[in-house]
Amino acid sequence: MSKPRVFVTREIPEAGLELLRQNCDVEVWTDLLPPSYEVIKAKVAECEGLLSLLTDRVDAELMDAAPKLKVIANYAVGYDNIDVDAATARGIKVGNTPGVLTEATADFAFCLMCAAARRIVEGVLYARNGHWHTWEPRGHLGQELWGATIGILGMGRIGYAMAYRAHRGFNMRVLYHDVRENEHAEQNLGAQRVDLDTLLSESDYLSIHTDLNPSTEGLFGREEFAKMKDRAVLINSARGPIVQTEALYEALRDRVIWAAALDVTDPEPLPSDHPLYTLPNCIITPHIASATYTSRNRMAVMAAENILAGLRGDTLPTQVNPEVK
Ligand code: DGY
Repeated sequence: MSKPRVFVTREIPEAGLELLRQNCDVEVWTDLLPPSYEVIKAKVAECEGLLSLLTDRVDAELMDAAPKLKVIANYAVGYDNIDVDAATARGIKVGNTPGVLTEATADFAFCLMCAAARRIVEGVLYARNGHWHTWEPRGHLGQELWGATIGILGMGRIGYAMAYRAHRGFNMRVLYHDVRENEHAEQNLGAQRVDLDTLLSESDYLSIHTDLNPSTEGLFGREEFAKMKDRAVLINSARGPIVQTEALYEALRDRVIWAAALDVTDPEPLPSDHPLYTLPNCIITPHIASATYTSRNRMAVMAAENILAGLRGDTLPTQVNPEVK
């Protein structure tokens, strides 16, 4: 009997590929850059499974080009690149990779916060580029972390893990804004749920951990930056389009806020000649918050397990549209 066909849009860690190869006829896109939309569409035409990345747009048109498609497993916890409603309407199961990257992502967001607060990247470049001539009593001054107020936008798994580090490790007061109350965070970390304006005006550090959806897209613009403290640091390790790039550039340039540390941008990747790169108070990393050996391996296995479950006709271990049976 022929094995079900699966297209994997990039080389994910071997642990996941191996699992798929044992059970499926697998084609993997091996280029460093993602396949184009048209290429994915052509590749999935005969496939029952698609293992996609956050850089792949998976919409209704693409699904219609793949009449045998039963399951889409995104190699990410976020799945804003997939039209889930369209998948549900077509009886296609969609999976993501929650949980396994929570700690790695929170670690990284915390590192970004520290780096921005204490101007670590500036300091490294200063020393490396031969400007370090003496100890400077007024040079390189940054912001304190201990006892500061952190605002968490989106108190889900990763938001909680970030707040935990801040509160337990650095004695920070935790505020959060979320559509849902997080009792665990309130009890365990003394977190206080506030409206968005309070989060903006009272946070020394504001860390974004919400998903990208119509209500969060473009949420941070000129008006929001104007409400923030002039010493505030913005950290975004969620999705780039939650922050309006041009407005952020102006806010950092004009010191409306003090600094930003971004692991995600809009557009992504940010073109190398973008003016944000010229600002010393902006740290940009290439969407690497989940990039630890452990997390990326677990994500690969989880995505592969989602594919295999979907091909068997089972509910996926982490299915985002459980209504598809
Ligand atoms: C995700 O999983 O959504 C991250 O952005 C990448 O790991």
